[in-house]
Amino acid sequence: MSNSGVPRRVSRRSAIGTGLACVSSIGVLSGCQDTAATSLEQPAETVPRDARLRDLAARRGLKLGTAVQSRYLARQDNYVPVLTRDFDLLVPEYEAQWKIIDSRPGSGRYDNVGRILDFAEANDMAVRGHAPYWHGLQPDWLNATLASSPERAERLLSDRIAGIAGRYRGRVRSWDVLNEVIEPDDGRSDGLRRTAFLTAMGPGYIDLAFRAARAADPAARLVLNEYRTEWAWPQGRKRRDALLRLLEGLLSRGVPVDAVGVQGHLAPALDGYLNAGALGEFCREVAGMGLTLSVTELDARDTGLRGSRAERDQSVADAYARFLDVMLAQPALDAVLTWGFSDRYSWFTKFFPRADGQRVRGTLYDVDYVKKRSWFAVANALAGG
Ligand code: XIL
Repeated sequence: MSNSGVPRRVSRRSAIGTGLACVSSIGVLSGCQDTAATSLEQPAETVPRDARLRDLAARRGLKLGTAVQSRYLARQDNYVPVLTRDFDLLVPEYEAQWKIIDSRPGSGRYDNVGRILDFAEANDMAVRGHAPYWHGLQPDWLNATLASSPERAERLLSDRIAGIAGRYRGRVRSWDVLNEVIEPDDGRSDGLRRTAFLTAMGPGYIDLAFRAARAADPAARLVLNEYRTEWAWPQGRKRRDALLRLLEGLLSRGVPVDAVGVQGHLAPALDGYLNAGALGEFCREVAGMGLTLSVTELDARDTGLRGSRAERDQSVADAYARFLDVMLAQPALDAVLTWGFSDRYSWFTKFFPRADGQRVRGTLYDVDYVKKRSWFAVANALAGG
């Protein structure tokens, strides 16, 4: 485990126990930002308080993105101003998932994804697509159909990919063609997850998916998106190994994979949440295959963390910094996306609630859109080096 040490630019002492008058305050965004900024003990390289993350990223040749939901784009609160200020790349958080688009076969509810694309284009932002097939949000009817008629698998998968990637051809910068196809705990020697498509048609479903995506939108970057690639423990190592072997096989067969997405859902309460050395080595191997890297779903939950809110916020900020220290050092990196940006609308609230009932503080802004230590950690990481 090489989780040792805090990256150079992160001050361990920063801000713990200092004034947090604004953290839970409401409303006045700019005033709060100022207070929050000055309440931090300034680390060596501190960005101006009015810096925009997208500008800091652009100076490194990176896009800075986040996951959005269409309904929030219509809110009258600070969601849209903060979004357009800090980010230049959007990904639908879940509205492009198969279960949402085709809750019934062929129902084709694309309106909300269309809203996100229209918003992005109106605001000069790029778009990522997520995800034509993910076992976590596949329609119920699909399971039943694949179980009873596995011979329909190829057609179902290629139609789904052609349907969504073809519909938005030319408008989507990159597609997470498949999401989380590795699961060492499923017990296969190749480490592949036993998805419904794997059961129906074997590992070739992965080849087929990428070929279908290339045909549907030749200009889009095709991404294999995976989680827990940063983990220590044997599970992390097995996952990285399985993914590298899968990529080697795909590339040797001429399957059009362009990039690996490193999700980055960080859990600093767990000892082995980050093996920085192994993550860096993994990234170098991916890049050595000629592939691009993206951080696709970055956040860091305080679920399970004890201590004061300031201490927890600092642990969360440190997690962002440690992870970005590895990822920003990769020349093959093209983008960093966070999974939402305000604790007001984070999936953590539902999926990883704190035992004490307090809201999870895993994103860059609190519920009132006040910048937290994590925002400064990301800004400093982007500004440094
Ligand atoms: C989550 C969304 O945030 C939720 O809103 C949805 O209900 C379930 O999926 N890894 C992924 C994402 O690749 O698709 C997941 O998003 C979070 C974990």
